[in-house]
Amino acid sequence: MQNDEGQPSQSIHHIVYCSQAVQHMDKDALEQIIVTARHHNPRFGITGLLVFGSGIFFQWLEGPRDNVTSLFKIISADPRHSDVVLLTKEDEFRERLFPNWDMELVAAEDISAVLEDAMHEASDPKQKNTLSKMLLELHKSPLGK
Ligand SMILES: Cc1cc2nc3c(=O)[nH]c(=O)nc-3n(C[C@H](O)[C@H](O)[C@H](O)COP(=O)(O)O)c2cc1C
Repeated sequence: MQNDEGQPSQSIHHIVYCSQAVQHMDKDALEQIIVTARHHNPRFGITGLLVFGSGIFFQWLEGPRDNVTSLFKIISADPRHSDVVLLTKEDEFRERLFPNWDMELVAAEDISAVLEDAMHEASDPKQKNTLSKMLLELHKSPLGK
């Protein structure tokens, strides 16, 4: 939605987090998450993307603030992953970045760079520590090289 000046008239909330898969995630296991997301997210006005590689999830969720916050609580408690690190939580007056993606699974080539950036920017030592552990795991695997 836009106002008369062509600016978005509603603020959009987004949350970005990364986490570590608890078990091996094959294609079917990832598909299961995406199918659930695509079933629920449109009803709550949530769009975004999910990256998976080397045992690490990275997800961008955007939509109305209360809905994004509630979904993030549900996702954080999901036993399929642990070490959930909140990277960004922000309100912005802008259009959605991914208006057509109820939840898109994205290839993981760039995940290492994304985590390194996040680690350099994190101010909370606990976050830095978890991110550094994740990067170590990532670099042990072929995807991280
Ligand atoms: C990494 C990850 C990302 C997820 N992303 C979403 C999502 O975007 N939307 C969603 O509804 N559920 C998502 N889930 C699943 C939720 O944690 C939860 O299992 C689901 O919402 C429960 O739906 P149900 O009650 O219909 O089984 C995700 C789970 C994981 C592990």
